[in-house]
Amino acid sequence: MSKSVRFGLIGLGLISNRHASYLRAGDVKRCELTAVCDVDPTRLEKYSDIKTFTSSEDLIRSGEVDAVLIATPHYAHTAIGIDALENGLHVLIEKPISVHKADCERLIAAHKNPKQIFGVMYNLRTVDCWKKMKQLIDSGELGEIMRINWICTNWFRTEEYYASGGWRGTWAGEGGGVLMNQCPHYLDLWQYFFGMPSKVRAFCGFGVRHNIEVEDEVTAYMEYPNKATGVLITSTGEFPGTNRLEVACERGKVVIEDGSLKFTRNEIETTKFSRTAEGGIVFPPVWNVDIPVSGKGGLHSEVTQKFVDAILDSTPLVADAEEGIKSVELANAMLYSSLTDSTVTLPLDSQVFEKELKRLIAESKFKR
Ligand SMILES: NC(=O)c1ccc[n+]([C@@H]2O[C@H](COP(=O)([O-])OP(=O)(O)OC[C@H]3O[C@@H](n4cnc5c(N)ncnc54)[C@H](O)[C@@H]3O)[C@@H](O)[C@H]2O)c1
Repeated sequence: MSKSVRFGLIGLGLISNRHASYLRAGDVKRCELTAVCDVDPTRLEKYSDIKTFTSSEDLIRSGEVDAVLIATPHYAHTAIGIDALENGLHVLIEKPISVHKADCERLIAAHKNPKQIFGVMYNLRTVDCWKKMKQLIDSGELGEIMRINWICTNWFRTEEYYASGGWRGTWAGEGGGVLMNQCPHYLDLWQYFFGMPSKVRAFCGFGVRHNIEVEDEVTAYMEYPNKATGVLITSTGEFPGTNRLEVACERGKVVIEDGSLKFTRNEIETTKFSRTAEGGIVFPPVWNVDIPVSGKGGLHSEVTQKFVDAILDSTPLVADAEEGIKSVELANAMLYSSLTDSTVTLPLDSQVFEKELKRLIAESKFKR
């Protein structure tokens, strides 16, 4: 391979405007945008200086690219991703990697050659406060996690947003709503920080705040084998929204909100204190730990740079695409729990969920 990665961008919509802009501005080193593809030929007009395609198959087989960034509507990720991997390309895929767990399994199975780099655009992993949170957990500083509460309702979207692409807000086009389009970033961070729960019980509101058939409000309760619990609340219908993560752990409490990270550290672990303290209503002494957070990170270009570096230097990615199955499984489990009014035990049966999604698509009477 040459010292510069030749990039192809597939799907030229909202997010690709950003991808194309930083790629063309040279913000990602050692790579160049050499080809683009969209099924809508009008979207190709502003790329007359490079190779353009209306079919991803043709771009993938053109010999013009070493890697592709797939930024199409969700269902197309699986087929285009498999095609690109089977044709020897490196693949960076937008979130979610696929709509449902069974498609994720098919896509991941096509990644047979470890020399081919396969990453997912989980750019929020590079935000400084989330990096610090990961560091705190992995270092063991927090001790065992007891309870997680995450309100992420800062995803307000208008009716015009849902009308901007025929695929949005439908089972057949998007395969879900806030869990599938906006919240995957936080579902990914959830599993990245805390791992996968063993049980999920969720309550979804379908088209509560918008003229859509999929969920735009979710409250999910999760349980872990160590008896830790978690609640996640998300919505695209509230403004102003909140993004607040509160984690109760043996060593105290962490709160991340508005870009600040507050760690109130118990000098003695909570359970140990409870077992040994004299007196019924007494509390462990605490330290207020000031953890500086820079407010930097979260750029898509950062994920793409790491992807290019992984291809040229074998360095680690921000997020391996294989890990993308976990946020999809969480989203699917939340939907399935709500639709069946039951608690879902993980791992989710991917075939059962796929069947349920196909039923929703077949029985849909939704008209925008
Ligand atoms: N990482 C992020 O921050 C972020 C932000 C927004 C969207 N996304 C993701 O990016 C993807 C695209 O979202 P969007 O908002 O840009 O959508 P969009 O509807 O604005 O654009 C999608 C484009 O893909 C084209 N397309 C459809 N099928 C195609 C196919 N088979 N081959 C080639 N082109 C095809 C459409 O014509 C359209 O131009 C989704 O997976 C979405 O979840 C990620």
